[in-house]
Amino acid sequence: MQSIEKRKAAHLALCLDSASRGTGAGLDHIHLPYDALFEVSDEDLDTRTRIAGIPLRFPLMFGAITGGTALATDFNTTLRKLAQKHGLAMCLGSIRACIEDDSLDITYGTGQVDALFANLGVNEISRYSADLVARKCQKLGCAGLCLHLNGLQEFVQNEGNHSFSCHFDALLRFIESFPMPVLIKEVGSGLGGMCANRLGSLPIAGLETASLGGTSWIRIEASRRQSPISAANVNALNAIGYTLEAAIRDCRNALGDRTLIASGGISHALDLVKSLALGADLVAIAQPLYRVYHDNEAAGLESFVQEWIDIGRLIWRSTGCANLQALRSCLTKPA
Ligand SMILES: Cc1cc2nc3c(=O)[nH]c(=O)nc-3n(C[C@H](O)[C@H](O)[C@H](O)COP(=O)(O)O)c2cc1C
Repeated sequence: MQSIEKRKAAHLALCLDSASRGTGAGLDHIHLPYDALFEVSDEDLDTRTRIAGIPLRFPLMFGAITGGTALATDFNTTLRKLAQKHGLAMCLGSIRACIEDDSLDITYGTGQVDALFANLGVNEISRYSADLVARKCQKLGCAGLCLHLNGLQEFVQNEGNHSFSCHFDALLRFIESFPMPVLIKEVGSGLGGMCANRLGSLPIAGLETASLGGTSWIRIEASRRQSPISAANVNALNAIGYTLEAAIRDCRNALGDRTLIASGGISHALDLVKSLALGADLVAIAQPLYRVYHDNEAAGLESFVQEWIDIGRLIWRSTGCANLQALRSCLTKPA
C-alpha cells in the first residue's frame, strides 16, 4: 500500500477511538425559544439554504472525511447517494491521493451530487496548478473546492510539513485563477479573530469553522508519531483554537452574507439548529458518519441521516421559527 493510502486507512481507524473525540460543540448554555403551540406545521417549515450559491433542501453537509483508500469507496458512494436524495451538501476527503494517482479516483465514490466539493490542503497549492486541480474536481463531479488549513496537524504528523506557513499572496493568486467557488476550512482548532478577517478578505465563497470540540487531529497524529510528545504538551496543543460559538460569530462578521458552515463536535440535531440560530448557513458533520458506517454500513447511514433530518425539523419547528431568516433572529428577540 502507498504511504498516503496507509495514512488514510490509519486515520479512519484512529478517528473511532474515543480518545480522539473532543468534548463536543459546547453549545449547552444556549437556550432556544420553545413554542409549545407548535404553530409552525411540518408543511410550513422551510429548511432551505445555500452553499456557495447552490440550493440545499436541508442545512446539512457531510464534512470532508476520506478518499484515497479502498476502504473509502463504498462509504463515499453511499454518502453521495444520500446527499443527492435529501438535497444536502458533501465534501470529499483530500483529493491529493487521486491527483497523484488517477487509479484512486474510484475511492472518492460515484454518483451525481449537485453540491459536491473537493478538498485539498493549502499546503498543496504550491505543488499543483489551479488548472490541474480544477480538472480533477470536474472529473470527480465537484461544483467547487474546499481548501483546508492544518498547521498544527502538519507539525504533529510524522510525514507532515513541520514548517507549515501559509503564503497569503500565493493563496490569493490560486483562488483568483481557480474557475470554481472556493471555500476554506480549518481541521479541528477552528477559525476566528484576525484569521477569519484575513480569510474573509479573499474572494472565497465561504468558510467552515471546524472548531474545537470535534475530532482531534492533534491526538490522532500524536498517537501515530514515532517520536512521542508528552501528554501535557499534547493537551496543550489540543487546547489551542476557538469554540464553535466564538468561531461562528467571528466568521459571520468576516463573511457578510457569504456561506458559513459550522462544524467541530456537532453530535446531534439540537447542535445543528443552535448553530443555525447563532449565524451558520449549514452544519457539517464528519466522524459521526464514519462511526455509523463502520458499525452498521450503508443501511445504518441511511437511517442516521433520516433521523437527523426528522429530529432537526422537529426541533426547528419547536422554536416557532418557520425558516432560516427567522431562526437567525430568535436568540436576539425576547421569547
Ligand atoms: C477520518 C477523518 C478524515 C478527515 N479528513 C479530512 C480531510 O481530508 N480534509 C479536511 O479538510 N478535513 C478532514 N477531516 C476533518 C473533518 O472534515 C472535520 O473538520 C472535523 O473532523 C470536525 O468534525 P467532526 O467533529 O464532526 O468530526 C477528517 C475527519 C475525519 C474524522
